[in-house]
Amino acid sequence: MIRFEQVTKRYADGTTAVDDLTFEVAEGELVTLVGPSGCGKTTTMKMVNRLVEPSSGRILLGGEDVAAVDPVRLRRTIGYVIQQVGLFPHRTVLDNTATVPALLGWKKAKARERAAELLDLVGLDPGTYGHRYPEQLSGGQRQRVGVARALAADPPVLLMDEPFGAVDPVVREHLQSEFLRLQATVRKTVLFVTHDLEEAVRLGDRIAVYGQGRIEQFDTPATVLAAPATPYVADFVGADRSLKRLAVTPVTEADLEAPEAPEAPAPDNLPETPDAHPAVVLGASLKDALAVLLQHDAGRVAVHAPGAPDRVLGSLTTAGVHRALRRTAVSVPEPAPEPVPEQLSSR
Ligand SMILES: Nc1ncnc2c1ncn2[C@@H]1O[C@H](COP(=O)(O)OP(=O)(O)OP(=O)(O)O)[C@@H](O)[C@H]1O
Ligand SMILES: [Mg+2]
Repeated sequence: MIRFEQVTKRYADGTTAVDDLTFEVAEGELVTLVGPSGCGKTTTMKMVNRLVEPSSGRILLGGEDVAAVDPVRLRRTIGYVIQQVGLFPHRTVLDNTATVPALLGWKKAKARERAAELLDLVGLDPGTYGHRYPEQLSGGQRQRVGVARALAADPPVLLMDEPFGAVDPVVREHLQSEFLRLQATVRKTVLFVTHDLEEAVRLGDRIAVYGQGRIEQFDTPATVLAAPATPYVADFVGADRSLKRLAVTPVTEADLEAPEAPEAPAPDNLPETPDAHPAVVLGASLKDALAVLLQHDAGRVAVHAPGAPDRVLGSLTTAGVHRALRRTAVSVPEPAPEPVPEQLSSR
């Protein structure tokens, strides 16, 4: 869907921001670009909607060279969210959201109807927030308006440059969850820039880890964490990458032990709460499973089939967690797998 072919960008002062970049984002895929400040992430993104022109190489969008498309027309077909959100201060939330449909010449009523729909979708009640001005919103709410505005004309492609950068970690995590839920339904082709590895790992179907102007590794989050391609990537993902892998490794049947036998009477020094049977769904992350495991004294957590809480498939112990991490460390997944909808919704 988006294809970079040997793209280099040298700015007028001689800075090489991006050097010989080749990669592809599949239709409906969310790729995160992650790397330190100044490594060329924003430059990469701005070349897609021609806010920056490459010095050499080309970028194809749905097979068409963007250099041949009128930039204004191009930008109207690409949703763009920037870190500062860039809402118009003197326009209401509703009119901000309707910006692109209005530019595209939609009837005012239809554009506003669409804007209200989108505000609803990002969790802002249009009745409550639609008529406010940006300064009357919290930072997190403004960022949601930014996302709604980018989605308003239903563009197939979204460029998001640190869209959740300006909010505190709790709100950011919330916005990430909402965005993942949204993406599971709208399935846009997304390039998402962040310098936060956790965010890149959580959101990306695949991650591009940037060094100076170059991609050091381009693969699934699980593979980048389990098998860093270069010492630079290993250093970037950090010594605690095993912990990070927990979040991106799902519980599979191979990790389970036989379901627990009916319980022997509990020793009376440790009264159990009667209805607290620890359980998680197959496909949940090891991180979530481990959290449940650590909260209970049982030493194991029951794993049930998706959509069938009564069908217990087996139980997971800490030994199973180790097995799962070993399994994913050796059997590195194929490059460029199709994004799986279940993965999105289970995160
Ligand atoms: N207009 C410009 N002229 C000259 N150099 C530029 C220009 N814009 C960016 N650069 C340089 O290009 C390099 C890449 O910049 P870019 O904005 O793409 O980085 P980034 O990865 O987005 O960084 P950050 O995480 O800080 O946003 C940097 O060294 C930057 O100083
Ligand atoms: Mg940037």
